[in-house]
Amino acid sequence: MEVDKKDEREAESSEQVVNPWEVSAKDGGKIDYDKLIDKFGCQRFDESLIDRVQRLTSRQPHVFLRRGVFFAHRDFNEILDAYEKGDKFYLYTGRGPSSEALHLGHLIPFMFTKYLQEAFKVPLVIQLTDDEKCMWKNLSVEESQRLARENAKDIIACGFDVTKTFIFSDFDYVGGAFYKNMVRVAKCVTLNKAMGIFGFSGEDHIGKLSFPPVQAVPSFPSSFPHLFPGKDNLRCLIPCAIDQDPYFRMTRDVAPRLGYSKPALIESSFFPALQGENGKMSASDPNSAIYVTDTAKDIKNKINRYAFSGGQDSVEKHRELGANLEVDIPVKYLSFFLEDDSELEHIKKEYGEGRMLTGEVKKRLTEVLTEMVERHRRARAAVTDEMVDAFMAVRPLPSMFE
Ligand code: TRP
Repeated sequence: MEVDKKDEREAESSEQVVNPWEVSAKDGGKIDYDKLIDKFGCQRFDESLIDRVQRLTSRQPHVFLRRGVFFAHRDFNEILDAYEKGDKFYLYTGRGPSSEALHLGHLIPFMFTKYLQEAFKVPLVIQLTDDEKCMWKNLSVEESQRLARENAKDIIACGFDVTKTFIFSDFDYVGGAFYKNMVRVAKCVTLNKAMGIFGFSGEDHIGKLSFPPVQAVPSFPSSFPHLFPGKDNLRCLIPCAIDQDPYFRMTRDVAPRLGYSKPALIESSFFPALQGENGKMSASDPNSAIYVTDTAKDIKNKINRYAFSGGQDSVEKHRELGANLEVDIPVKYLSFFLEDDSELEHIKKEYGEGRMLTGEVKKRLTEVLTEMVERHRRARAAVTDEMVDAFMAVRPLPSMFE
């Protein structure tokens, strides 16, 4: 019996696992995103879709679109078809407040969502799943609520427009129309189905089983009667990392049975750990990631000491062979955060052909990240309790489509 279980676990670990609670690649390698798209059944973002975004918004698409950080979608085309005809939509994203300090990977969906809000001029709801983290991370109710409010400050610091944005914590907001939708969703999902989608087992407590409807229903405008009264057909677009896909597969599956439209999705890959793409950013290892609370000195040290380099062991060899850009973390990080396309191309060429050394690339990355983190720190320091209350107040958003 014991042996069987062990074999089963080993068989599992040799396959890649991506779900809201676990992301691990096959045999310690890289995540295979093509395989993930096939398995989940989402669509790949192609050039023509990116061009279409450019045309419809009359601005250059975000770096995260141009460089394939957001690489997959579900029905994004349909959102654009409707938008082209003058029909707006709303955005929905969220965060599970499991830690005090956010790292750069946590900011990615919010930076991208801010761009979408500005480019399409649409309202946004942000769910803070303090209930989820209380149940999964074994935090007390009070501590999860405190973290939700702290994280809200970091989210607000990303620059969202208070006249178009509603931030809510599940502990505060669940009830009324939102809860009615949760019950409608829950009735459509059998235990077998939930075990299949989320991998729940008989050992999990029933709180976990009851959670997926909470994350599902912000996809339906009727869950926000103070925002979208009489707009039950307003479409929803969800920017998220692809590990959240199971929640929204379930949501899309049940929506038509409730007479609601399926939410559309736009999904990102994962931000790699400093140690390399097969490493994991882990809360228990502060050196695996750069945090928005890191000082300039921390950032410099972490990059110099831990950022996995694709450069060669000796300068002579490097000049001869050049860097392996495929595995190089400084180049990877620059491709997320260095806005200037021509500078990025220049660095890749010079470094890839051995004329530029790892130290020089790391120096440039240090500058870029220090500036970004500094900017975030200043913006967060300017977020007052009154501002948090303003974003989280249950209120209409009068200018949300302007
Ligand atoms: N479950 C997500 C997390 O742990 C938080 C979340 C809630 C979310 N709703 C969302 C993320 C919608 C993206 C989109 O981080």
